[in-house]
Amino acid sequence: MSKDLAFGIDIGGSGVKGAVVDLKTGQFATDRVRIPTPQPATPKAVANTCKELIDQFDLPEDMPIGITFPAPVRRNVILFMANLDKSWEGVNVAKLMKKKLGRPVYAVNDADAAGYAEVVYGAAKGVDGLVIVTTLGTGIGTAMIYNGQLQPNTELGHLEINGKDAETRASAGVREKKGWSFEKWAKKLQEYYSHVEMLFTPDLFVVGGGVSKKHDKFLPLLDLKTEIVPAKLFNTAGIVGAAALAAKFCKDC
Ligand code: BGC
Repeated sequence: MSKDLAFGIDIGGSGVKGAVVDLKTGQFATDRVRIPTPQPATPKAVANTCKELIDQFDLPEDMPIGITFPAPVRRNVILFMANLDKSWEGVNVAKLMKKKLGRPVYAVNDADAAGYAEVVYGAAKGVDGLVIVTTLGTGIGTAMIYNGQLQPNTELGHLEINGKDAETRASAGVREKKGWSFEKWAKKLQEYYSHVEMLFTPDLFVVGGGVSKKHDKFLPLLDLKTEIVPAKLFNTAGIVGAAALAAKFCKDC
């Protein structure tokens, strides 16, 4: 197979999405396939969905596969799960997927994958120092990249702000649920980003997730000392980052 291709799967609360990625460009080399996330989204049910997904592609045996999970992943094990079925906690996801898919996979947190993709192909390409990528979706995912090196599993969406878990106050999902205007939501984002800025003094914030397509409606309302820019890969970043990380690290999978 071409060493410039890898497969990425992004597991989300509503859809499991996958595509072959061209690693030279960070673009999809095939159409993206999306299958609704099974409910309940147990490890077994989601592993079956991943199998159904890759069966729609004629993938060479040795193509690296990266899979994102909306949870911290340490040495392939999910530590806790905020927004998918709780039965994921303690599961070795690489082992589970390898058994189901019949090939080694690289398992990674969804925001880490998206952050990595932004550094290699997108808004943070060539940026020195500390970049914090946030994904605004059902939850808030974060990736911290220092001089191009990913520091995995930062979980800054769960910082406590005014006594509450930050993602339950400021995620895009909360905005939708509550029907907030962008102006109202921007006040919550202001609190969130000011807090992260004070704690980490990053050189750049990158804002991803589906809602980042509408960045002009909320990013200009934020008043920060740090440059804050929209992601370039929007919601392809998870798939692209997972594929790129798998290609880089799958020899050790
Ligand atoms: C999870 C993170 C994840 C983020 C976005 C949070 O609730 O704890 O691991 O990156 O949601 O999916």
